Amino acid sequence: MHKLFGTINIPGDKSVSHRALILSSMSIGKSEITNLLEADDIKATIQILKLLGIKIYKESGKWIVYGNGTNGFLQPKKDLDALNSGTTARTMIGAVSSNPIKCRFVGDKSLSKRSMSRVTVYLEKLGARFKLSKNDFLPLETFGTNELIPEEITIKKPSAQIKTALIFAGLNINGQLSIREKVLTRNHTEKLLKYLKVNHKIIRGKDGSNLIKLKGPYEIYSKNIKVAGDPSSAAFFIVGALITPKSKITIKNVMLNPTRIEFIKILKKMGGNISIKKTGNVSGEKCGNISVSYSRLKGININKSLSPFLIDEYPILSIAASCATGETKMYGVSELRHKESNRIKSIVLNLRKVGVKAQNIRDNIHITGSPIINKKNCEIKTYGDHRIACSFMILALLNKNIEIDDEKCVSISYPKFKKDLKSLLKK
Ligand code: S3P
Repeated sequence: MHKLFGTINIPGDKSVSHRALILSSMSIGKSEITNLLEADDIKATIQILKLLGIKIYKESGKWIVYGNGTNGFLQPKKDLDALNSGTTARTMIGAVSSNPIKCRFVGDKSLSKRSMSRVTVYLEKLGARFKLSKNDFLPLETFGTNELIPEEITIKKPSAQIKTALIFAGLNINGQLSIREKVLTRNHTEKLLKYLKVNHKIIRGKDGSNLIKLKGPYEIYSKNIKVAGDPSSAAFFIVGALITPKSKITIKNVMLNPTRIEFIKILKKMGGNISIKKTGNVSGEKCGNISVSYSRLKGININKSLSPFLIDEYPILSIAASCATGETKMYGVSELRHKESNRIKSIVLNLRKVGVKAQNIRDNIHITGSPIINKKNCEIKTYGDHRIACSFMILALLNKNIEIDDEKCVSISYPKFKKDLKSLLKK
């Protein structure tokens, strides 16, 4: 069996890449974005911004964006295709809703099954108007206006996409918009606003809530942005090194935003040998190098309250749980049903295929670790979900009989995943 050994640089963070492109487009002037993630989800955002009149191109390894201001999107002549990307669709619906243009958003088969009303219900409170398919889905029409009304909004579901859609709309709303989330979700939009010197207030409640106060309309001045490495992509190699005997790797330049690295705390609690060396700040986000070596993992209980901070890492945490001794219980993971695939189903069914005892009990997943995965010839069904594909490609390191039905879907978030994984594999 091969081990994982050596050092790797992880590509730019997906969430920050979307936000860097959109906020640069809403700034005035030229921005240069470095280390932008070049994956299908980000291509969707670039294509949509171009159709909205933004000049974007790549030059000498940097992405150049000429922003038109917060009221500068032009009437698109074609449908805006978000492909597979929920973040593109949901946050861009917010961004265009406060510009006086009409748009029609479409997406692929998976995205067309995902709820859009979770965003539009809040934007409607500001006076925005939409036409959704079956009241919830794409294709969706937006009827934008630059006369939205500032309000006090409380978001019920923890969702950074909903929060960001409201913030993007708020940048061109005249007056004070207050957005309260009951629990803090990934806060890259707020961090970038601060980095771009967009004057806003953040009040963290003792109860863990987060209140953002904006007073628009804003003029944002363009600034170069560097995107730090994606911790969710790093998570695959981290777990790969933990479960593969004799492994020892270092992952460089990983973003260390606390709302994104809860999975490291979980893996450490499971017995993982992981250390972090901070290296500094990259465009408002903390960054560092992560070193990992093979460890004997043990099962643990993962509390429901942590789910907003682990939302994209449950698939790879399930792989860690499969290789641990004892049982891991992941509580309160109902949101996983609404991701690129129904991830409760795609995790449980695929783990059973490889011979791991996995159960879905109400909104929880229970996994009993089987340190020796010895099932012969089984094919993993990814349902076109990139994180399911990457996660099971990691488990396949322990058993060559595991095959993935659609490895190509990794291009949604990490086109070079297989190449980078191979570069770490040593005899
Ligand atoms: C994202 C937010 C999360 C996450 C998604 C990216 C973002 O979704 O699952 O992959 O960039 O804002 P929710 O905010 O809907 O939970």
